[in-house]
Amino acid sequence: MRVLVIGSGAREHALVLALRRDPSVTAVVAAPGNPGIGQLAELRQVDQTSAEAVVALATDVAADLVVIGPEVPLVLGVADAVRAAGFPVFGPSGAAARIEGSKAFAKDVMAAAGVRTAHSEIVDNPADLDAALDRFGPTWVVKDDGLAAGKGVVVTDDRRAARDHGAELLEQGHPVLLESFLDGPEVSLFCLVDGETVVPLLPAQDHKRVGDGDSGPNTGGMGAYAPLPWLPAETLTEIVEDVVKPVAAELVARGSSFSGLLYAGLAIGVAGPAVVEFNCRFGDPETQAVLALLDSPFAELLHATATGRLAEVEAPRWKDGSAITVVLAAENYPGRPRVGDVISGAGEGAVDGDTLVLHAGTGQREDGALVSAGGRVLNVVGVGADLAQARERAYERLSRIKLPGSHFRTDIGATEVTIPQG
Ligand code: GLY
Repeated sequence: MRVLVIGSGAREHALVLALRRDPSVTAVVAAPGNPGIGQLAELRQVDQTSAEAVVALATDVAADLVVIGPEVPLVLGVADAVRAAGFPVFGPSGAAARIEGSKAFAKDVMAAAGVRTAHSEIVDNPADLDAALDRFGPTWVVKDDGLAAGKGVVVTDDRRAARDHGAELLEQGHPVLLESFLDGPEVSLFCLVDGETVVPLLPAQDHKRVGDGDSGPNTGGMGAYAPLPWLPAETLTEIVEDVVKPVAAELVARGSSFSGLLYAGLAIGVAGPAVVEFNCRFGDPETQAVLALLDSPFAELLHATATGRLAEVEAPRWKDGSAITVVLAAENYPGRPRVGDVISGAGEGAVDGDTLVLHAGTGQREDGALVSAGGRVLNVVGVGADLAQARERAYERLSRIKLPGSHFRTDIGATEVTIPQG
């Protein structure tokens, strides 16, 4: 099988690595990819947001499967065009991708499916902002009603900070979504979805704030671990049966059947799981930890999903143990990151014993040096018999990587997690 992977981050690096482990995969082409992915796949340039360009590339490389990593091309309907051109595509249609692209659409689908989520209001006029803020709090959740790579979300107990963020979004012409705050630890559950067939992967937890102890602003994600020792098996079943399956069925009923990866982000509160958000693609950085534990042929699972045969294939098998991923970020991230700094100690191949070094925002200078080229620069994944060993391995590997001005969280997978009890 020849697989074309669209995207350029550490998530796509993890996808490519898992695809290369599947013996049915004869070649992987990644576009645009990054220098780390380039060690495993042929790299091609493409405008990811251009349906025509992606179709032309799939034709040129004679792809047997096209995997679209990021949300932006999916929301723009790139998968529709590639599918219409006759290629099996792992990724939902533009209509189904609205589950991530429009928070208002997602809320409507969840209400119809009877899924618990935060109470919310959309504000699109600055004159309505203050009165709307008064109906929320004491913790305000202020979101951009569109795609913002996690950075459009402010969660704060400071009404002025909530107001400033809402006003800034409105000034940029973005409608603002205000939500009630959902208490309890967060879970990311990725499910392969093909119409009404739902196959969960391992549950994971992301760490979205930039600093240790969940301090500082939100980021695209600073680290993650899987599976979740504190999550009861029955809660996982409840998420699949009472959250993901009803939403998948509701999308089918609306004529927007989902095909690809449906990502449920939930908070596990006193009353059980409640949805924080749905995304229409693999999450970053959770995927890097989840796929490190996959013990099944990955291309087969994606191809079966893309061709409407997910119900026919064996459920994914998982290695025992745990995996964590720690993000190495550039100076000043999540603000405007400093780029162009030389990275040393990242190694040549992604796999190094029980650790992986995945590239996110990296580039290659003319003299061949590996340099930082984005906010999140590298992901170091550790796999171990348990979470403690996975952490130890990841942080030891990370200590051998040097990037001036860089920072990372030291507490990924280390915080005591408890589900609030009523
Ligand atoms: N882990 C956050 C995201 O992928 O949106």
